[in-house]
Amino acid sequence: MGSVRAYGLSCDHRTTPLGVSGATPRLSWRLAGADPVACLVEVDGLWSSGELADPAAIGVRYAGPPLRPRTRYDWRVTLRAADGTTSTARSWFETGQDRWTAAWIAADPDAVEHVDPPTDGEWALRDHGLLPCPQLRRSFTIGAPVTAARLHISAKGLYEAAINGTRAGDAQLAPGWTDYRHRLQYQTLDVTSLLTGGENVLAVTLADGWWSGFAGFDPRRPGYHYGRFPELIAELHLTFADGTTRVVGTDAAWRTAPGHVRHADLLKGECHDLRSATPGWELPGFDDSGWRPVLVTGHDHGTLVPSPDEPVRAVTRLPAVTLTRTGPDSHVADFGQNLAGRVRLALPELPPGTRVTIRHAETLDAQGRLDTANLRTADATDTIVSAGPATVFEPAFTYHGFRYAEITGLPRPGDVEAVVLHSDTPWTGTFTCSDPEIEQLRRNIEWGQRGNFVSVPTDCPQRDERLGWLADAQVFLPTACFNADVAAFFAKWLRDVRDAQTPEGGFPNVAPRISGVAEEGAPGWADAGVIIPWHLYRTYGDAGFLDVDSMAAWVDFVHRNNPDLIWRFRTGPHYADWLAPGPATPRELLATAFFHHSADLTARAALVHGRIRDAERLRALADDIRDAFIKTFVSATGRLTGDTQTGYLLALAFGLLPGDRIAPAARRLAELVEEHGPQTGFLGVSLLCPVLSAHGRADLAHTLLRRTAPPSWLYQVRNGATTIWERWDGRGAPSMNSFNHYAFGSIGAWLYGGVAGIGQAPGSVAYRELVIRPLPGDLTWARAEYESARGRIAVSWERRDDGFHLDVTVPPGATATVHLPDGQTRQVPSGDHHFSTTEES
Ligand code: BGC
Repeated sequence: MGSVRAYGLSCDHRTTPLGVSGATPRLSWRLAGADPVACLVEVDGLWSSGELADPAAIGVRYAGPPLRPRTRYDWRVTLRAADGTTSTARSWFETGQDRWTAAWIAADPDAVEHVDPPTDGEWALRDHGLLPCPQLRRSFTIGAPVTAARLHISAKGLYEAAINGTRAGDAQLAPGWTDYRHRLQYQTLDVTSLLTGGENVLAVTLADGWWSGFAGFDPRRPGYHYGRFPELIAELHLTFADGTTRVVGTDAAWRTAPGHVRHADLLKGECHDLRSATPGWELPGFDDSGWRPVLVTGHDHGTLVPSPDEPVRAVTRLPAVTLTRTGPDSHVADFGQNLAGRVRLALPELPPGTRVTIRHAETLDAQGRLDTANLRTADATDTIVSAGPATVFEPAFTYHGFRYAEITGLPRPGDVEAVVLHSDTPWTGTFTCSDPEIEQLRRNIEWGQRGNFVSVPTDCPQRDERLGWLADAQVFLPTACFNADVAAFFAKWLRDVRDAQTPEGGFPNVAPRISGVAEEGAPGWADAGVIIPWHLYRTYGDAGFLDVDSMAAWVDFVHRNNPDLIWRFRTGPHYADWLAPGPATPRELLATAFFHHSADLTARAALVHGRIRDAERLRALADDIRDAFIKTFVSATGRLTGDTQTGYLLALAFGLLPGDRIAPAARRLAELVEEHGPQTGFLGVSLLCPVLSAHGRADLAHTLLRRTAPPSWLYQVRNGATTIWERWDGRGAPSMNSFNHYAFGSIGAWLYGGVAGIGQAPGSVAYRELVIRPLPGDLTWARAEYESARGRIAVSWERRDDGFHLDVTVPPGATATVHLPDGQTRQVPSGDHHFSTTEES
């Protein structure tokens, strides 16, 4: 334990990122070994932090001279332990592009010949207005050795780029989804190894994506949300051995032609007609004289920003578990797992023109056929028309939510795999316990996160919705933070949320904003604009998450419209406690509880930034809202108007009750839960087990966790769920019955924080002051490991004949208060600790 070590170095929450922007990137690290007694951060001889005031810090903002664009900076963190030993960990980051010169280019949509295959292809064009995906190419000559090459690239739509026939980077669905009217992300790729002397070719295929394809569910505005056809911008920056540089950018010299991707759409699916392929077009030597010149559509670079998070990647592949013949040339593949991604299919040699169709679904009907009723207008259909030779098909510009795929047109399909796509957030948590059904629940929660963190946090991946609903993300965030390092993913999405904030201060219901979806934020939905930054700050210790102006603008907006402090007006579509199976929680009570919570958290955020006057004003407002809440909704005996579980949960979790009414309210909550089982919807569910256990009813929280009758989590598990369902019982009108909706998966945080007992003290940030309070219930053992922002936290407990045994790992610089089940409490420093007790209270 003498030595001390920093590891997991990151810049703006990413490992060795390309394209960092901003004057003060955050440099962070994790700690292992002994407690450091001194810490120093240095950037490339350019800046030294000096010895940090807090030797156990885990992050610092660069505060040196201005960083140059497109430059690599090496940095290091040096730690000293009490015994005088030091250790240095190194990393680097590279800054992004500053001044674009390239033009936006496109294939002139009016010049595209509609040469689709008959039948389905025509149907796709006629009904959906989708055009073939343009291919764009530019060849250029390199005469001297290149020492470094960076491709800065983006699209209005989606792009896939190749240099000399090799794919550039591994991002899927790039450049990702933002509100393109405000921000358009570009990616920076190191393509040095792809270039060669002589002729080189930069080749790009474009697709509609969120830009001009179908998105959302509003039949009045099904597509064309941001533009009508895709466009490309790219700059390839070459640095030669002699130090000179050259830029090859998008300009009028590029040439274009449609290729074999006849249409590609995120919701409708993708069609490849290999007879229309243009072999060799991505390689030098191809004759593009028959191709058209591109259209130069503009030179506006104002919205371009570097991508702040890891892209969507094809993370893994699952082979079909079974392949069942359902007709002479049709089969249904079962991948054994509900997921978001696409099918990769090996095709044998076939007569040219043979059409193979892949449809997707989450469930099968009683006859074993796909049940697509819950997809609504998302066709989720991929088509390939063979040119003859054997090939492997995988769509590039679409994804679907499915467990099953029907493959039609082949007497015998070759290898069938599901390619799993999601934003590539590093996994940080593992939880296991003695009940295999709870382990299955935990897996379902993780798969829900995979399937719904695709560029933005979505409600569900399968139907024509797939939107960044704020409440879903808000309730699931604590679970997501245990499962994975989602700091960069949410830093990106919070920009979408702020882009969608109205001039009046209103947060939306969905971000990125999309026309046609109820725009005015509802209670619990819009409040995510405050709740999410606060939770991220507490989890990762980065005060940069707290944009106090934006948070306060939201609180002031609600206040202005509700001067008597009961939130009645401007509640947007007021979704209440969405999909609660029990009696409705009074809307004004629910809204006012969130109003208080947002004011309370914003007051704390103001304090973090030293904005004392704002903090005092907001604290006073939060206190006044609380008074109004008590006066309006709380009886002298602690009964709440409506007498619903969610009402009590909000009041208890958000600190809305006077001291003498807390215990009666908690008792009433427990009575309701005992009598009815869970009656909460999306807003109440994440608080259910945490609040019950915080008020002495961990036993009841465990009863809920292990309940198998509907509504319950294990009912889903017992009925074969491999993800979390939209509804507790999975029974709803098909149009609102998704089988991959993570809101009810918010119980995941309680597995880590309750059953395993990993928590932090109320004022603690980034797990500086751990509170370890395992709640064994009837389980025999549980283990959780969490790669926190500070370092590794581990809890493992087991009940044996000789008593209760607990092992705890506390990361460097942290302390822990350990609560044992027999009621004893211990204070421990960093390091590994073992506790045993013979009895449990
Ligand atoms: C979505 C939800 C969302 C809700 C608003 C639904 O259609 O699927 O997850 O939060 O609308 O109530």
